[in-house]
Amino acid sequence: MAAFKTLNDAELAGKRVLLRVDLNLPVENGRITDATRLERILPTMRMIADRGGKLVLLSHFGRPKGRDEANSLRTMATAVSEHLGRPVAFADDCIGEPAQKAVAALQNGDVLLLENTRFHKGEEKNDPEFAAELARLGDIYVNDGFSVAHRAHATTEGLAHKLPAYVGLSMQAELEALSKALEKPARPLAAIVGGAKISTKLELLGNLTKKVDYLIIGGAMANTFFAARGIKTGKSLIEKEMFSTARAIVDAARASNCEIILPTDVVLAMEFKANAEHRVSSISGVTDVEMIIDIGPRSAAKLAYQLQSFKTLVWNGPFGAFELPPFDEGTNTIARAAADLTQAGSLLTVAGGGDTVAALNQAGVGSKFSYISTAGGAFLEWLEGKELPGVEALKMNKTA
Ligand code: 3PG
Repeated sequence: MAAFKTLNDAELAGKRVLLRVDLNLPVENGRITDATRLERILPTMRMIADRGGKLVLLSHFGRPKGRDEANSLRTMATAVSEHLGRPVAFADDCIGEPAQKAVAALQNGDVLLLENTRFHKGEEKNDPEFAAELARLGDIYVNDGFSVAHRAHATTEGLAHKLPAYVGLSMQAELEALSKALEKPARPLAAIVGGAKISTKLELLGNLTKKVDYLIIGGAMANTFFAARGIKTGKSLIEKEMFSTARAIVDAARASNCEIILPTDVVLAMEFKANAEHRVSSISGVTDVEMIIDIGPRSAAKLAYQLQSFKTLVWNGPFGAFELPPFDEGTNTIARAAADLTQAGSLLTVAGGGDTVAALNQAGVGSKFSYISTAGGAFLEWLEGKELPGVEALKMNKTA
């Protein structure tokens, strides 16, 4: 963490602290369905308020095109207040008079949430004027929104150049966990990559073949690897235009001494629905009317056993159609084995991405991995080896 200024280095008492968080939580019918992102940022909020900072929260919500009440953060102020156990004021704009007045009214230790930053075009354009207006509301800037750090926006990137900039506690924990897993990992290092399509994870697969010792391919994307080898995949989802890419990935892996692991048996169904009639077959036994819907029990058990020889595991993407029972069994078997080894202290496990976290929670192991990232896109871009603008801006800041 030497590259970042942490909150321990910050003088907070009496200071107006602009804290970028990611309150882009999943909401259904007005109710938050998963508050993990909010829970993770509570320690940063508490530390700033407890040390006498005047806390000003900045966040986006959704992808509004201009002001749009459906994407207002007003109700989120209540949710933050309930979780934090303190009052949280709300200003219905993040710049201009409403914001200035609300900030001026803050006493040491008070908390204020400003309206959705994406109501202004300047946010996504990373407009320096917009960032400057925001900067006038604060004395220091803290970023605790790792899950939006892949966006070069005014509140994630621009502001870091306008004010003394610090890394928040949850962003710090996230960066430490991620760098342990991929930058200086204990080996053997394995990655599980699942999901439907190779085309959406090309850069990820390319980067991982260079870094990991074992690349375990799950989900429908494994089908394209099979089909590219001439194996019949029946009605399974495949990407014909990705055959040569799949072969190139296999060649690149071989050249880097990375072993690609694909299932040798699979669960087959004729319909893509929960509890559909199904059977287990070797990968060479798929008929024209069937589709591959999960990794087979032999492959899952073998992989669960193989995990014992690994020291680090990075996981993005489920194995089968985990949302349709019983086709979550393959994912569950492997997830539980990884969790047991983590708990026994022999495997470091880091997972991230929306579907992955849902699948691990469903398997009952969400809290048993070494680290579960709250980020979707940012986690993927980090795995792809890309620099995240929100993280880089904190490193470069020299203003304090
Ligand atoms: C997320 O939910 O992944 C982050 O909040 C980023 O949101 P975005 O994809 O709309 O930029």
